[in-house]
Amino acid sequence: MNKVSKPDTIQEKTAPDTIQYQKAFDLCIRKTRGNIKRLADEPKSAAWALDGNFFNHQEGFFEIGNWTSSFFTGMALQAWRETEDEYFLNQVLRLAPQYREKVFNRHLDTHHDLGFLYTLYSVALHKLTGDKQHREVGLRAAEVLAQRFNGKGGFIRAWGRLDEIISPFGTAGVQTDNMAIIDSLMNLPLLYWATSETGDNKYQDIATRHANTVLKYFIRTDDSLWHAYRFDIPTGKPVGPENFCGRGVDSYWARGAAWAIYGFALSYRHTRVQKYLDASLRLARKFITQLDAEVAPVWDFRLPANAAPVRDTSAAAVAVCGLQELSKHHVADFAILMAKNALLDRICSKDYLDSKDGCPGVLKSAYGDKPAFSSWGDYFLMEALARELELGDAFW
Ligand code: GLY
Repeated sequence: MNKVSKPDTIQEKTAPDTIQYQKAFDLCIRKTRGNIKRLADEPKSAAWALDGNFFNHQEGFFEIGNWTSSFFTGMALQAWRETEDEYFLNQVLRLAPQYREKVFNRHLDTHHDLGFLYTLYSVALHKLTGDKQHREVGLRAAEVLAQRFNGKGGFIRAWGRLDEIISPFGTAGVQTDNMAIIDSLMNLPLLYWATSETGDNKYQDIATRHANTVLKYFIRTDDSLWHAYRFDIPTGKPVGPENFCGRGVDSYWARGAAWAIYGFALSYRHTRVQKYLDASLRLARKFITQLDAEVAPVWDFRLPANAAPVRDTSAAAVAVCGLQELSKHHVADFAILMAKNALLDRICSKDYLDSKDGCPGVLKSAYGDKPAFSSWGDYFLMEALARELELGDAFW
């Protein structure tokens, strides 16, 4: 693959294309109108789909693997904030009993992605409406997430029921009780929010201890990263790297890098601890050097020469949000601003946007090793557009 530190296309894209961004944002609103009703009619995870029809996805709302339902509610709440059309809020509110049930009565069937699920539901609803019932549910989700913290290893356990020591996830028999994963950084804002709401530092302490562990073990000397890391439970000592989402243990998963860029920047937003901002910036600089003239990142930056260079536009969308967050803290340099604009321009082009009304998905090739649509790709595209168009801040 042709790797250059400043691809020609990025050098040319110095100004945001706001007309294209507004069109893409309007497209997100249009598709959200149908999608949020379908989700409320039949709550489920609706994670990804080759043809963009998320609602054929089989995983139910209460299944332990569900980390994606709230990408629809997050989009609907952005649509409500922008249009003030109560339809969007009313559809989101239809899901309130399920969100409450999941953390009060089915809390063992959850994993560390409670941050994704409840920041884009309860926290967002509380921030937008002030209604205390969402605060209560959001705080309960933070409590359940905090229970996953392993104090000896200083990490939040990623997967598996808390009452199972070794639980199968994906491939039967894979040990999941001793592992953290890079995606977890996006779950920490739920804990920061819980501390700011309650004044109890417990949540923020867990979040920063986990962020410190990720900082210490996940980033390689060349600023690429591992997807997962195992720890010895009795001593808390690191065992070694693991992989579930990238091509392999020693590969460099593009979306994982994007989660880390954004996640560390968000940890800085909530704590003002400089090392998190420094890490985000370093990882962003590394990420940009991996982009080629196509601009949208390949799903894993260390693919074998004969592998299909499938693009992951969701990694691009998450990275844009991270670069926006860096810029907000006045640390982004010219190369970072150019990359942000180029990535957003590219994924808003007709090559990647699906404008057909019959298709629930917006962003093509937003998944990973196959060119599928994903609910998270659509969500982070909309969030990036809202920030670029100055329509409102993110809910994290
Ligand atoms: N679990 C987060 C991801 O697949 O990116």
